[in-house]
Amino acid sequence: MLVSLSDRSYQIEIGSATGDGSLGRAGVILSSLPQTVTHCVVLTDDNVQRLGYARTVAESLAQSGIDAAILIVAAGEQSKTIETANSLWTALVDEDVDRQSVLVAVGGGVIGDLGGFVASTFLRGIRFFQVPTTLLAQVDSSVGGKVGINLPSAKNSVGAFYQPVAVLIDTSTLATLDDDQFACGLGEVAKYAVSLDESLWRLLETDAAKVLAREPSTLGTIVNACCRIKADIVSRDERETTGLRALLNFGHTFAHAFETHSEYKVLHGQAVAVGSVLATRLAVRLGLVDNAMLERVIELHKSLRLPVKPSDLPQLPKWDAGTIIKLMSRDKKVENGRLKFVLPTSAGKCELTEVGDIDEVKRILEE
Ligand code: NAD
Ligand code: GLY
Repeated sequence: MLVSLSDRSYQIEIGSATGDGSLGRAGVILSSLPQTVTHCVVLTDDNVQRLGYARTVAESLAQSGIDAAILIVAAGEQSKTIETANSLWTALVDEDVDRQSVLVAVGGGVIGDLGGFVASTFLRGIRFFQVPTTLLAQVDSSVGGKVGINLPSAKNSVGAFYQPVAVLIDTSTLATLDDDQFACGLGEVAKYAVSLDESLWRLLETDAAKVLAREPSTLGTIVNACCRIKADIVSRDERETTGLRALLNFGHTFAHAFETHSEYKVLHGQAVAVGSVLATRLAVRLGLVDNAMLERVIELHKSLRLPVKPSDLPQLPKWDAGTIIKLMSRDKKVENGRLKFVLPTSAGKCELTEVGDIDEVKRILEE
């Protein structure tokens, strides 16, 4: 599948360990790039390292004659910081990384966002290759080139648009995800379904049991569907300038505020699930959709065992509407101080909407 961006176009290869897209394809993919690759640094986290995925990728690179060192950071959102980026820039110097080297990000969205940010800045930009191993990263974060780190007070607020040279997705890695992390990915999958693709929504309604059982062909279908939606949107609005790409942020205005308030202890995909339901509630209040739509959204989330309200998020500390609204005002969709939300307008469709009366948002939070 192609992400079509003129000279920054790249392929997303999706497969499983038994198919063409296995981790062992990493070397072949890098060898087929127009500019020769002889040296890589593989970035991963300590969980993914233990599971052996980074080693498999490094071995595949070695088989293609590409030299690769492995750099390991602590797993989790706390690594998406300037401090970790700083230690990685230093490590890249120690590893003699030059402008022909490639940074290979093997892990979840944290490793992809952090690795991409480090690659975008080191020597004013070296190539990077996404090898996502979580459902969230396979359906969303590895595609589209949003890279970055968090500030303590604002998520994803330092970063760049910086596209990878390729994305390699091996869906067999999803077998080792714990249930919470799997649910995080499903939060993003439900986001695509409700806001952008009713046929995906219907598939999830029919096949929820197969999804939860992680049936390989069902997972393959879902990952393919989500990547296709994202590749299409990114190809048409890479830098989020027309409002199209902003639609991928359904549920995110609420989600980012909850994540920041919890000091990033609330997991992103679970916050997105709650945010999607709250955004639908807001759309009902503003007369954009009816209650039946809200019920269907809640039902979908429950069938995928996703949280549907803030009190379903165990890591969310005590909060009040004023605090959450203040955090929302730092959202990247704010323009001239005015809050914008991605709100559903019908099943599988949504729009970026300015909400003039902030009391409506307050009421939704307090309901
Ligand atoms: P993550 O990278 O922290 O991974 C979640 C956990 O799963 C980690 O502990 C990791 O070690 C572990 N893990 C990874 N692969 C595994 C596997 N195959 N088996 C078992 N454990 C595995 O988090 P995530 O949910 O993948 O990504 C969340 C991040 O992605 C957030 O920072 C979010 O802001 C970002 N994000 C970015 C974009 C984008 O477009 N760039 C989009 C969505 C989310
Ligand atoms: N995850 C939203 C985007 O990539 O634009």
